[in-house]
Amino acid sequence: MKLCMIGTGYVGLVSGACFADLGNDVICVDKNIHKINNLKSGIIPIYEPGLNEIVKKNYKVGRLKFSLDLKDAVNKSSIIFICVGTPPIKNSNSANLNYVFNVTKQISKSIKSFKIIITKSTIPVTTGDKIEKILSSKISKKLFSVVSNPEFLREGEAIRDFIYPDRIVIGTENKKVNKILKSLYSPLISKGAKYINTSRRAAELIKYASNSFLATKITFINEIANLCEKTNINVEDIAIGMGLDNRIGSRFLRVGPPYGGSCFPKDTKAIVSTANKFKTDLTLIKKVILSNSNRSKLLLKKMSNILSNKFKNKKICFLGVTFKANTDDMRESFCLKMIPFFSNKGSFISYIDPTGEKNEFKKFKNVKFSNSIKQACYKSDLIVIHTEWNEFKSLNFKKLVNKKNFAIYDLRNIYSPEKMKKLKIKYFGIGR
Ligand SMILES: NC(=O)c1ccc[n+]([C@@H]2O[C@H](COP(=O)([O-])OP(=O)(O)OC[C@H]3O[C@@H](n4cnc5c(N)ncnc54)[C@H](O)[C@@H]3O)[C@@H](O)[C@H]2O)c1
Repeated sequence: MKLCMIGTGYVGLVSGACFADLGNDVICVDKNIHKINNLKSGIIPIYEPGLNEIVKKNYKVGRLKFSLDLKDAVNKSSIIFICVGTPPIKNSNSANLNYVFNVTKQISKSIKSFKIIITKSTIPVTTGDKIEKILSSKISKKLFSVVSNPEFLREGEAIRDFIYPDRIVIGTENKKVNKILKSLYSPLISKGAKYINTSRRAAELIKYASNSFLATKITFINEIANLCEKTNINVEDIAIGMGLDNRIGSRFLRVGPPYGGSCFPKDTKAIVSTANKFKTDLTLIKKVILSNSNRSKLLLKKMSNILSNKFKNKKICFLGVTFKANTDDMRESFCLKMIPFFSNKGSFISYIDPTGEKNEFKKFKNVKFSNSIKQACYKSDLIVIHTEWNEFKSLNFKKLVNKKNFAIYDLRNIYSPEKMKKLKIKYFGIGR
């Protein structure tokens, strides 16, 4: 099939490359000239395991193309995926839909024959209705069908998640369109993916409800971890004990820092804002947002206590600064709170991240990127393990730090407290 992805970010590039790999002709469009030029010269703008190979392979054989020309891409495609960002509006909980509506207006000027227009971007319920309204004010309703096909991929596992999704959700009441999309996804369905066809509004809400539920699960176990710390219980035992119940399931019962990333924080806020518009009070999700924000304060307080509230000239080392391992995405990473907090208190900060130096910290004079774990850890007073990259999982801290008194705060519970005790290292984990 002939497809175009409008917006070549985490979602547009991954799904575009994977659709091309399944044998479709795909044009990935973006308005960012630098990004498109880089992609044409083989430079992948994001870190995502396996993406480089799949992009290069399909670009080479001509199934995957990159373009700045939205009009031309729309003309050449029968299915158009909208994959632009829907970040929160500043000082508001609502999703900013300007990018989606701008693209819709651009598409409306380019359509000459029937097109299926799909929203892969995460959009509040009834946005599809608005897209349809914009389009029908410019062109005949016979020329398009607006469908919601939310994306569930996780950064760091995006290729696998695209090829082996748990489910594919198609929100359309148009039987003919549903048949075409089922056929587009048939290689994934034949590998076991469940295909469900719902109303467009239901598909839009499935995405927000799913992300809010996952954020709730993480927040739930994080709160239980707080109780475990006070009652001398290992939260890992609780997670196993709960997770073995099939009604609960073990995934997303991993304790850690407050949830971050490009989806959970914005999607939980946006669903509350949407519900407000429909005069519905989502009390539970509101509390999840509050609990997650309180968690930042709680963990900062714990780290301050570890340092006995003495920050000046202390060296703090951060292992991993992205919001989780296997991605370069800094959006809503807890490090964006922790590092400025300690920097402003006069600590000296070194950090290492396998995806390289981050622009976010360049303005802080006392925050330095280290090229090696050894350099980052050397003579630290506190080591904060923020993400669980494999390279952080079996370190000899005594050798690396080369100093008598230092502490480790392991936000991902990678290391064994017993082993650390034997080594006489001051070690703190989460809920243990
Ligand atoms: N990142 C994820 O893990 C993930 C997972 C599932 C769903 N989503 C959702 O998918 C959507 C996209 O997320 P993302 O992380 O890929 O965003 P992103 O910011 O990485 O990419 C968006 C891209 O759209 C481009 N763009 C904006 N306006 C454009 C226009 N008029 N024409 C052409 N290109 C334009 C931007 O330049 C950018 O490259 C969001 O709604 C997000 O919530 C994201």
